[in-house]
Amino acid sequence: MSIVKIEKIVKIKVELLLLSMHLTNMNIRPRRNRKNSAIRAMVEETKLGTENLIYPLFIEDGASVKTEIKSLPNNFRWSLDTLLPEMEKCIELGINSFVLFPAVNDSLKDTVASYSYAHDNFYLDAIRKIKEVFPHISLMSDVAMDPYSSDGHDGLVRDGIILNDETLPVLGQMSLAQAQAGIDVLGPSDMMDGRVGYLREVLDSNDFIDVSIMSYSAKYASAFYGPFRDALNSTPKSGDKKSYQMNPANKREALLEAQLDFDEGADMLMVKPATCYLDIIHMLKENFKIPITAYNVSGEYSMVYAASQNGWLDYDSAMSEMLLSIRRAGADGILTYFAKDFASLVNK
Ligand code: PBG
Repeated sequence: MSIVKIEKIVKIKVELLLLSMHLTNMNIRPRRNRKNSAIRAMVEETKLGTENLIYPLFIEDGASVKTEIKSLPNNFRWSLDTLLPEMEKCIELGINSFVLFPAVNDSLKDTVASYSYAHDNFYLDAIRKIKEVFPHISLMSDVAMDPYSSDGHDGLVRDGIILNDETLPVLGQMSLAQAQAGIDVLGPSDMMDGRVGYLREVLDSNDFIDVSIMSYSAKYASAFYGPFRDALNSTPKSGDKKSYQMNPANKREALLEAQLDFDEGADMLMVKPATCYLDIIHMLKENFKIPITAYNVSGEYSMVYAASQNGWLDYDSAMSEMLLSIRRAGADGILTYFAKDFASLVNK
């Protein structure tokens, strides 16, 4: 036998020996816990149900309105009369939490968002009526100036500068009006400093101790809000929101924002958007002992929707995976435009 042949045989023998050693040492085989659906279901770590979902709905003044939002397909601007039956359908599917956003006519917008607490405000009427018809649901509001502001910003603007402290009383009046209308949870989405403490004070001193605050704590200046701004026609008229919404590059800053909101009396802390910010959701969950929510925003929905329309993704699977990942990261509640479709899917 040639020396080359011998070398080859020895090499093969050594490889076989290594392989058999490896196999006998492989006493942990994770695939055994995935071998059938009963086992897979038993060891499933994350449960996601309709009780985790909060459905964003858009309302405008008028009657018989159901206008589809172009960049947010299958989502509509409703009037109260068309919204109530839609909510009833959602409730039948198991959704019991909603967040309501007002689409305000441009003619009612001004620089100080005075319509946000006007006594004849249709949004406040809708809150009153919805809670009368569905007293058991959890209804959440939006607290920010942008739906009512002719500047399209979340705070007062003077010479292109956002006035933080002067904005707080506006948010306070808006919140008080919403509390009087019967809102369950206030959702300050404005990112002004000090607003959670300010709003808590306004609520408590007016005997609204049971009204909760779900604070948009870590709200990033994101490209994924586009369709929402189309829905409300609330794109800033000048500049951007980077002086109040957070830099997507920052993580430790989210801890600071969350700590402030926690100290000021927030009942729940929100991260927004969700999918690109799973690390932030996880971090807040590890660091705070109150519920964490995440806003699966308009652009995240539209992306999945558009891709599935093109046949590039399977809508139900992509939706479920996206929501599950947000829940796995640590979100107790998820604000999502998928709420109704997900609920329909699990009811099948
Ligand atoms: C603003 C607000 C925004 C959203 C909710 N409240 C957008 C913005 O900051 O312009 C976005 C929600 C979404 O994209 O689904 N107060």
